[in-house]
Amino acid sequence: MKIIDTYSNFLKQIKKKLDIKNAYLHEPYIFNDDIANVKKAIKEKQLSTYGKYTNLFEKKLKKYVGTKNLICLVNGTSALHLAIKTLGIEKKDEVFVSPLTYISTVNAIKYCNAEPHFYDVDRNNLSINLKKFSAYLKKNTKIRKNKCLNIKTGRQIKALIVTHVNGLSCELDKLITICKKNKLLLIEDSAEALGCKFKNKHLGTFGDAGVLSFNGNKIITTGGGGALIFKQKKYIKKAFHLSNNSKIIKKFDVFHDTIGYNYRLPSINSALGIAQLNKINLFINMKKKLHLYYSNIFKNTEIKLLKPSENLKSNYWLNTIIVSNKNIKKKLILFSKQRNFNVRPIWKPINLFKHFKKNPKMNLDDTTYIYERALSLPSSVFLAKKLK
Ligand SMILES: Cc1ncc(COP(=O)(O)O)c(C=O)c1O
Repeated sequence: MKIIDTYSNFLKQIKKKLDIKNAYLHEPYIFNDDIANVKKAIKEKQLSTYGKYTNLFEKKLKKYVGTKNLICLVNGTSALHLAIKTLGIEKKDEVFVSPLTYISTVNAIKYCNAEPHFYDVDRNNLSINLKKFSAYLKKNTKIRKNKCLNIKTGRQIKALIVTHVNGLSCELDKLITICKKNKLLLIEDSAEALGCKFKNKHLGTFGDAGVLSFNGNKIITTGGGGALIFKQKKYIKKAFHLSNNSKIIKKFDVFHDTIGYNYRLPSINSALGIAQLNKINLFINMKKKLHLYYSNIFKNTEIKLLKPSENLKSNYWLNTIIVSNKNIKKKLILFSKQRNFNVRPIWKPINLFKHFKKNPKMNLDDTTYIYERALSLPSSVFLAKKLK
């Protein structure tokens, strides 16, 4: 069967089965207790960064994620910024990063005046292509005085950011071994991965730093919000200080000992987060149901649905398909839009933007392959709820 016929059948089936007119990519799922908690915060005037709910949300998140070192910030982007800054990455440093990620991951490197160095992705999980990356390191870098140097630019490559796209991941233990051997700090962009575990350990807790997002389109939401995780306590202290405008309060004076940022998550957002986090297991179960439904429809077709590896417990945040013929992607997008089924093409590779064109990169053939063929399907919890 032609791809377009397979896809047309899929749309007919899903619209009939789910009885939907319009499907957006990912809508928040709000219960009455979410609203009640926000109302409570308003009534108590616990609204801003001084309020009590951020501390409570942090306590709950630490327990859920399995870390002692976590702070909540205004969004995932600010968490990425502080992850990079706190780890001491600065001007003239390079950071390995995927070109197939949300723009914030790469912008955050530039906020610290460092340079993104693009690696290629793995077609099966949209994470780093470990085999290609190892070969690239051997040819293009050298270790001198415990530092990883880019042979061509002479600059130090201080860190690698891995993005866990859609709640998928690479074989993280292998990546950690590569990073250790090559003197690279590891930062996990787990913005999309709350609730995901690799070998029973939460994503975002493997690296030197990890980042979460609670934006409106994520598995749980605080409106806007994010969290920053560090392996070492000393970094969380430093990041907290920076996020709080580097404020020091003395008995008769308030002062700021360095340039800081107003990045703490307000209490009103945390009040919503607390109620949402109570439902995360329910959300994951529902989303798994939707994933299995999609998976069954695309079985034995030319459309491949990306699936988590055996070692990964995914949150099934977004379902992404790869079509076998690159010329069909635009047709499928138009076809879906006409039927109010809002699919999203995968991000345009960031190395193609004019301001990143000159940045160092390896051969990015697999990134191009995915860019030309990948589409994400509506994956909201409410769709799963309609599956009987
Ligand atoms: C992979 C990735 N990184 C970073 C972010 C930034 O998070 P935020 O929107 O909370 O700033 C997002 C999502 O929004 C994302 O999907």
